[in-house]
Amino acid sequence: MSSPKRILFVCLGNICRSPAGEILLRAKAQAAGLELTVDSAGTANYHVGNMPDKRMRAALDEAGYPYDGHRGRQFCREDFSRFDLIIPQDEHNEADILRLARNEADRAKVVAMSRWFPQECKLRATPDPYYGSMEDFKAVVTLLSASCDAMIAEWKA
Ligand code: 4NP
Repeated sequence: MSSPKRILFVCLGNICRSPAGEILLRAKAQAAGLELTVDSAGTANYHVGNMPDKRMRAALDEAGYPYDGHRGRQFCREDFSRFDLIIPQDEHNEADILRLARNEADRAKVVAMSRWFPQECKLRATPDPYYGSMEDFKAVVTLLSASCDAMIAEWKA
């Protein structure tokens, strides 16, 4: 795939993992002089219209990447036309997205977040911190921050 310009992060609720990816990648791309359109969505509709979870906003603030205005929305089939790259955070999100794919071109846009995890990371998915502790939220920000750095490095090359 040539360097993608329109990137969509997807998780379940669109209040923890995917908005964190969105905020981190947007800020890092801007700092790197890379012009990207970045958004996020959830496969579920529980949190449509909501701000990211306050624990995730706190973890992002602490890392120097403050919340920049996203409100929860649900992934929809039209997102396959609006984005070049669709990044599910775990295998459940991936299966739910692929169920809505219209054709092989849509399916080819879906790439798991773990593709950009640091080499030493043993995880296959971004852990869902929703029922976890503040430490779990911070760990997600650390993991996604390193992964977004890897994206920028790849797409700048
Ligand atoms: P996210 O986390 O998918 O990373 O936004 C979750 C948010 C909400 C719920 C589950 C996970 N929930 O069950 O409401």
